[in-house]
Amino acid sequence: MEKLIEILLGDIYIQSFIIGLIIAAFLSKLSRRTNLNEPPLVYYRFPVIGHTWSYLKDCDKLILESREKYGETFSLYVFGQIMTIVGKETTHEILRKDQDFSFREGFRMQIPMHLIFGHPRLVEENVKIVRDFVVGKLKHLISRLQKNIINAIDLHIGECVEPKVIRYPRKTLVDIIAIPVANIIVGEECYNNEDMLETFKTLTFSLIKLFRIPPILSFIHPWLHQQIITIPLRFGWNPISKHRKVILNCIKPVIEKRLNDKKRLGDAWVAPLDALQCYLNDPNVAPDFNPNNINYDYIADGIGRLIFASIATTSNGATRVLYDLVERKQQYWQELYQEAQEINKQCNGNELTSDDIARMVKLDSFVKESLRFTSPIVALPHKCISKSYYTFANGYQVPSGRIVSLNFRDTNNDEELQGKNPTEFYAYRHLERNSPATKLERNFLTFGGGKHACPGRALAINEIKMFVHKVLLKYDVRTDNKEIEAKKRYLGPFPVPVNVGLVFENR
Ligand code: HEM
Repeated sequence: MEKLIEILLGDIYIQSFIIGLIIAAFLSKLSRRTNLNEPPLVYYRFPVIGHTWSYLKDCDKLILESREKYGETFSLYVFGQIMTIVGKETTHEILRKDQDFSFREGFRMQIPMHLIFGHPRLVEENVKIVRDFVVGKLKHLISRLQKNIINAIDLHIGECVEPKVIRYPRKTLVDIIAIPVANIIVGEECYNNEDMLETFKTLTFSLIKLFRIPPILSFIHPWLHQQIITIPLRFGWNPISKHRKVILNCIKPVIEKRLNDKKRLGDAWVAPLDALQCYLNDPNVAPDFNPNNINYDYIADGIGRLIFASIATTSNGATRVLYDLVERKQQYWQELYQEAQEINKQCNGNELTSDDIARMVKLDSFVKESLRFTSPIVALPHKCISKSYYTFANGYQVPSGRIVSLNFRDTNNDEELQGKNPTEFYAYRHLERNSPATKLERNFLTFGGGKHACPGRALAINEIKMFVHKVLLKYDVRTDNKEIEAKKRYLGPFPVPVNVGLVFENR
């Protein structure tokens, strides 16, 4: 009997706690009403749920209808918080005003990178490494990238004298892209280590899958969800610990040898060209030749962050380009094959140079169209970091802390920005406007924009082009009898990745 009373009392306590939280959240939301000239809040029928269901179920319709009814800037109520959506007019205001809006802060609310990787200085250091070393020295890296792309294709697709079915092209593309990227990040000495390559292939996924937990507690208050999902992290558990260990095990002997060689050879020592060496050139990280004074954790976290930024993004892009090419084979394959052959002839079958890759103009435009075409409906959540509120050029105001996302659909469907039939895939629309895939313009948001636009885009585009160029010359590719879904499907604002097997056969 006593036990029963205890259980009942326990239940009552829990219920009272939850009701208390709901009331507190409700009161706090009421008290947070501001006197600002806020964008219109789109009408919703059910309190608490707001637009969450339609945002998850049919985001496209919700965004198109809201845009039509409420104009370019409006707000939705999703998972317990108000989110402002801006269209094509205001998108670049958000990207430009980095004193007032931060993507890093917005992204942190989805994946708390600061708790996983630490070392806040790393974000800037990585941007600098990618900008100065990876992209700045891309011309010198092309030969290595190319050799590794060819090796990776041989390893993961290989000779296909008989038709060969690749059941999961998405996974195969991760396996392929990981090799050249690992080579330029950790260098020749350890990029081929089996464990290291596995870390390059899987780190992003071990991180993302943890944050697929539906934010149910956000209905009470988004803060509550944030606190609950980050508890294990704050108590020392980390989803990337095993990857950090692998990275440390592999780089430690390499670093020791490099320091030794540098000390021994003096000016005659030639520094390797890779991101690992960029960290070692920083006197805060490697103050002298003593391996015991190296800040190994900093380097391992830096490498982890670079893997997160580069692998899934590039391999997803390459997969999508390949599917688009197979899906539109009749229209484009032959023409792109001819361009590939022409360039191959001009360089006598020798290695491609940066200039050769730049001359693949039809492929470049195809890649850009493919990336444009697979954009999410709404993306790049930026947190308003103004002191108390921000006033848009259109007069609307949002309070500090508000998440403002970009309506990609509005930019992508606009005829003035995209040219004729913006909702259709037209591979040469960018070639006709003389706009290469790495160029940031008002009509192309895949790489963000402004000061913080993706610094690695030239590397990604060059890798995708080299990969597709080699595939065009070597194989014929078709689907595994299944149609690649003509109509794109979405989960919330994100396109559901296509997963159809592909058949490769030597030409
Ligand atoms: C198709 C492939 C890629 C896509 C679609 C992509 C997309 C993006 C986007 C949208 C951003 C945020 C931009 C903004 O804040 O406005 C970003 C940032 C970044 N990307 Fe990429 N990226 C790709 C490949 C790469 C590669 C290969 C690297 C590295 C080698 C890289 C390194 C970075 C870094 C370091 C940042 C952080 C910039 C910052 O916070 O200031 N990305 N990327």
